[in-house]
Amino acid sequence: MANVFQSNHPLVQHKLALLRDVNTEPKRFRELVREVTWLLLYEATEDLTPVERPVTSPMGSTMGRVLVEEIAFAPILRAGLTMVGPALEMIPMAHVWHIGLYREEETLRPIEYYTNVPKKATAEVAFILDPMLATGGSAVAAVDILKRSGVRNIKFVGLIAAPVGIERLSIAHPDVPIHIAAVDEGLNEIGYIVPGLGDAGDRLFGT
Ligand code: PRP
Ligand code: URA
Repeated sequence: MANVFQSNHPLVQHKLALLRDVNTEPKRFRELVREVTWLLLYEATEDLTPVERPVTSPMGSTMGRVLVEEIAFAPILRAGLTMVGPALEMIPMAHVWHIGLYREEETLRPIEYYTNVPKKATAEVAFILDPMLATGGSAVAAVDILKRSGVRNIKFVGLIAAPVGIERLSIAHPDVPIHIAAVDEGLNEIGYIVPGLGDAGDRLFGT
């Protein structure tokens, strides 16, 4: 699929296997999400456009290339929160816009309960952060919210996707690239990704 970037990096795949493991405890699980987020964002930020600026080292002057683009991270609560720390370690000047969505158990529809995104967003690029892309409802809703605020360049960064979620997001927002560590078999009868890793929020926060 044209807009899907699946990481085949051995480190990503190794850490993903540990994340899937039912015996991985919340502390280690959070550490692994942090580490995989670093690696995925490294790939997802490849097309940022640094500009040339003079820089003086202790040994002389040269031109450096620095990022001046306004960047935002938009975590989908709750599970996306764990991806914010590593994202800010990588790009500390980025804005963070929180998007609170949960899936209604029966219908699997995303319910918006909290949004803190500027009415007129100035960021040139926004990265939606959420480990799981299942039915795609939450991701589509998050992109809708960001587009209503005026963000034009939006990317989705997550850990595991179901094919149906990728299809739904790609149809609703064909301009949004999807950076993901794995595309799994599908969803089970209650909307969980199989084999997946279970409920990401519960495994992160021990609920
Ligand atoms: C999970 C996950 C995504 C959503 C994906 O959140 O973190 O946001 O489900 O499912 P979808 O693609 O079918 O919309 P959940 O609703 O469980 O909320 P939580 O993170 O607060 O537990
Ligand atoms: N949300 C999760 O946390 N896990 C899934 O498998 C699907 C949605």
